[in-house]
Amino acid sequence: MSSPYEIKQNESVSDDVVWHHSTVSHEERANQKGQKPVLLWFTGLSGSGKSTVANAVESKLLTLGKHSYLLDGDNVRHGLNKDLGFNEQDRIENIRRIGEVAKLFVDSGSIVLTAFISPFISDRLQVRELLKKDQFLEVFIDTPLDVCEQRDPKGLYKKARSGEIRHFTGIDSPYQAPINPDIHVKTANNTIAECAEQIVHQLAVRGYLNLSVK
Ligand code: ADX
Repeated sequence: MSSPYEIKQNESVSDDVVWHHSTVSHEERANQKGQKPVLLWFTGLSGSGKSTVANAVESKLLTLGKHSYLLDGDNVRHGLNKDLGFNEQDRIENIRRIGEVAKLFVDSGSIVLTAFISPFISDRLQVRELLKKDQFLEVFIDTPLDVCEQRDPKGLYKKARSGEIRHFTGIDSPYQAPINPDIHVKTANNTIAECAEQIVHQLAVRGYLNLSVK
């Protein structure tokens, strides 16, 4: 589906806007931080535990002396994306903007975590393609719908079932689960601490926590 936001953006980009290369390089920023910058893209249903697990991962990274930043769906929708709702076009634009912001944070040398439902495979693929091959890891927070609905931390499933909220993911709006996620986390079978440890372990094994960027 084409987005009205993209059309607006393309129309306003002038030929006179030229990319300005920065004096300090990505490699220098990464080396200063002693880490390999990466985007950990959390995806999963509302109530699956994306934000909770992402926060736990950030705490662990801080303890390890690593530099990170978490972009969270509910928070970003209070500011940058407060003009967006939950129809298909707005969700696409939500993820496009976050992808661009996350790319800037990765360039700054950070380990970036994003916690958005991001229900569409094509949108997540688009973000992956914005970054270099080893700068994007899809983290599937795989929690069955019935468990999310039972948790219902914000009472939103109840409202969706009663028809008070429309286009709710998993109820009357689709969720396309990752087919081959880089990291697969099951919150129904493990504690938050175990889930966070699994992700940090994967970062370590894949060389993101020590390697200096050449
Ligand atoms: S996304 O689909 O565009 O990626 P995002 O992660 O930014 O969604 O926001 C999801 C959060 O918004 C949910 O955790 C929930 O708290 C809230 N929300 C409000 N309305 C809806 C809705 N119709 N569908 C899903 N989430 C909603």
